[in-house]
Amino acid sequence: MVARDATKHNFSCTVDNVLITSGSQQALDLLGKVFIDPGDKILVENPTYLGALQAWNAYECDYLAVKSDKYGCFLIVWKKSLKRILNSCMRYPIPESHRISFSLERRKKVVELADKYGVPIIEDDPYGKLRYEGDDLPTLAQLDSEMRGQSKGQYNGNVIYLSTFSKILAPGIRLAWVIGPAEAVSKIAQAKQGADLNTSTFNQLMAYEVGKDGFLDEHVEVIRRVYHERRDVMLDALVEHCPKGVEWTHPEGGLFLWVTLPKAMTRPN
Ligand SMILES: Cc1ncc(COP(=O)(O)O)c(C=O)c1O
Repeated sequence: MVARDATKHNFSCTVDNVLITSGSQQALDLLGKVFIDPGDKILVENPTYLGALQAWNAYECDYLAVKSDKYGCFLIVWKKSLKRILNSCMRYPIPESHRISFSLERRKKVVELADKYGVPIIEDDPYGKLRYEGDDLPTLAQLDSEMRGQSKGQYNGNVIYLSTFSKILAPGIRLAWVIGPAEAVSKIAQAKQGADLNTSTFNQLMAYEVGKDGFLDEHVEVIRRVYHERRDVMLDALVEHCPKGVEWTHPEGGLFLWVTLPKAMTRPN
């Protein structure tokens, strides 16, 4: 079902490219286990998802934090940083997040640069289907596959893509998926056996039943509307109640926004 859905959205892959995990959080940990050696450097946005750093800290990597604006990471800084971390590890963007949605141009550039410098990308995309404004943009994995001219069959590119049922169905069922090159997926599957042998088959069957005939797609449309309304209520409440000097983002999707307090309102370090 996951491979079929990805293919429907112009990302050509087969079941050999897919691994079901117990949440994306487990996938992040397994990626650390398989790919990170002590001292490796990972390029991350600043700020980024704390759970990824918590998962990877155990593997003794370092981070290079890259600032973003509302269109995504700053690519010039990125280019310099990529050169610095050549022969090192990988990069971790969240193209739809609490603060920003990467523009199409930045997405393409990120994919091109990572390919040019041979740096794998971990694309963490839990919120891709929860967009309330603007066009639905292709994922980095899709763009990477397009760039390689892979219109059918197995995906064999540079991106390891993660997404999850947590934000579109239920977080408690702990079900997510990884799509990546078959060789990498097979290594991650081996590491997973050491962690939990397999992800709850009962929950997988449940998600399959919900997803196989289009109910999940309809459900996503409903929650998109609900979360859109909630976002707008939150934005209006911030305008009404926040004192001068407080700033916040206007996210085009996802479940969070980022509020920045003026210095006078923050605790000294
Ligand atoms: C960016 C990001 N990645 C991964 C996860 C983990 O998701 P899951 O519930 O599938 O483990 C979350 C959860 O909030 C998240 O926000």
